[in-house]
Amino acid sequence: MSSSLSDSENNIPSTSTDELQFHMDDDQIMIETSAAEKSNASVQQDDTTDEIWRNIENSRVRFPMTRDDHRQGLKRSTTLKSPNLTGPEGEVVIPTTDHDSSKQSASASPMGTDGVGGGRDGESSDKDKSGRGSLDNKTILKPSPSVGTSLLNLVTEATSAKSNGTESSSSSMMDEAWERLRSSFVYFQKKPVGTLAALDPSAEALNYNQVFVRDFVPTALACLMRVPDPEPEIVKNFLLKTLHLQGWKKTIDNFTLGEGVMPASFKVMYDSYQEKDVLKADFGGSAIGRVAPVDSGFWWIILLRSYTKCTGDYTLSERPEVQKGMKLILNLCLSDGFDTFPTLLCADGCSMIDRRMGIYGYPIEIQALFFFALRCAQQMLKQDSDSNRLIERIERRITALSYHIRNYYWLDFTQLNNIYRYKTEEYSHTAVNKFNVIPESIPDWVFDFMPLRGGYFIGNVSPARMDFRWFLIGNCIAILSSLATLAQATAIMDLVEERWEDLIGEMPLKIAYPALEGYQWRIVTGCDPKNIRWSYHNGGSWPVLLWLLTAACIKAGRPQIAKRAIELVEQRLSKDGWPEYYDGKKGRYIGKQARKYQTWSISGYLVAKLMIENPSNLAMISLEEDKKIEKPRLTRSASWSCSR
Ligand code: GLC
Repeated sequence: MSSSLSDSENNIPSTSTDELQFHMDDDQIMIETSAAEKSNASVQQDDTTDEIWRNIENSRVRFPMTRDDHRQGLKRSTTLKSPNLTGPEGEVVIPTTDHDSSKQSASASPMGTDGVGGGRDGESSDKDKSGRGSLDNKTILKPSPSVGTSLLNLVTEATSAKSNGTESSSSSMMDEAWERLRSSFVYFQKKPVGTLAALDPSAEALNYNQVFVRDFVPTALACLMRVPDPEPEIVKNFLLKTLHLQGWKKTIDNFTLGEGVMPASFKVMYDSYQEKDVLKADFGGSAIGRVAPVDSGFWWIILLRSYTKCTGDYTLSERPEVQKGMKLILNLCLSDGFDTFPTLLCADGCSMIDRRMGIYGYPIEIQALFFFALRCAQQMLKQDSDSNRLIERIERRITALSYHIRNYYWLDFTQLNNIYRYKTEEYSHTAVNKFNVIPESIPDWVFDFMPLRGGYFIGNVSPARMDFRWFLIGNCIAILSSLATLAQATAIMDLVEERWEDLIGEMPLKIAYPALEGYQWRIVTGCDPKNIRWSYHNGGSWPVLLWLLTAACIKAGRPQIAKRAIELVEQRLSKDGWPEYYDGKKGRYIGKQARKYQTWSISGYLVAKLMIENPSNLAMISLEEDKKIEKPRLTRSASWSCSR
């Protein structure tokens, strides 16, 4: 194939299955970080503990009405100091214009009524447009009644932690984490290009000695957020190396994968014959289940934006080969076909949950990442005759996707009640029950699980099928990408609080809830012994997810929730040897087959800490709401139109 970087390995003949999955690389990419880039990358960050609640630069809204405005979202983030963090009533004030929780109701307005955006969505003012750091633009974060630690306490706690020594135990955990993270670095020709998935001397390596694309994301963010010396070089090297791998011809059993597919993982090996480092990559051909990772490409685009946002180094994303890599990924997902939905049709096991778990079809995990990646690409694609059509398609897809997800995936008490009373067999565009979901298919647990206050995006929606399970990644990514409206983000946070025991338990965080048991486990997982109930992907608890929860909490103006989860993690994670996952309904037990010293458990903790200590870091992994996207209003036949 024509590659973004010249490859000699593209045409390497393959004779064995292994060779079909792994191709050798003899390319040498010179990756130099210029002095200018390095100085750009050193984000100004002061001693963080006294200044926990600084301005969230990300929250300063400019209305992204034009293409130039979209590119504004790429501007390098800076850290601003707030002169006064305490409001007149003792509440904590974070200057912002986006999440004005003082003007929004505690939980989402139910769909089907007067719009879900309970805040000031759609309004604009000159002040908003110009606003940088003025205290006129502020979010008032009131203590949440159902959480022990209020935001105000969080600030005072952080200060007092210094004197009573809790800070020093958490900072020694941070030190240990950095040391372990560093020891997992993988080098290609002496340059760091990624991290091993795990470094557990007591377990068989299997493929945990590879660099997984999705696993590297929290490591990359930790390196970008690191104080006082950020390390953007490894991120840049990783982005270029994986881009290079994208250019390989990917063949599994005589079948060639799409050009844009990014690897699930890669490995650096030393070829003693050629006396040089070589790469092996897995595009799903070696993975258990043989599924190509749909999430890798999306994470790659998202990370490219994080790198650009953090360093201000636009030269990387603007390189022709990087632009091409982005377009190849997008072309895979935007091609016209038989779809009547804007969501992306996926095979089971194509994301972090990379085994059979009944998440085929249109899983929220992938849809939210798809939306996030589209919005990041929108900021980074250069305008030229070649790209303009693609940019238009991206814009149209973003609009359609957000309408679809916000309306049809959203579940709260009112919507559950609506579905419970659905009529079936409705024909034509006037149907309310658009996917002909049979109310009897609603599982019993949902009725108990659904609180009066709160809501979430369900796992999957397709004809006559709603997967009501909760998936953490999809919901957090929906918040970070602003796929969730402000009111929906608030409701998701409410749900986490209301169902703390189920979703957080003793060891954060449940990847999915609830677990599949008995007959369902047999049918849906194919009797997978690794995915038994409340273990691994089937309701297991994954410490890595802490960073996503933390980011989403900060974005939704509810950092006290994250703080409480971080405290739980700090009690055990290091003592337990940084396991990959925990088992049990409350996540009490170290996972049956969990690796110890799992790299993303380590980096996930670091990112959570770096963000809670300096919320302005959120800007690297979060997008403003796009005011152009319409708010959901569920009315009869609202989605139907037909024109000639
Ligand atoms: C497991 C996880 C997958 C992860 C990999 C490496 O296969 O399911 O999400 O990327 O381990 O840690």
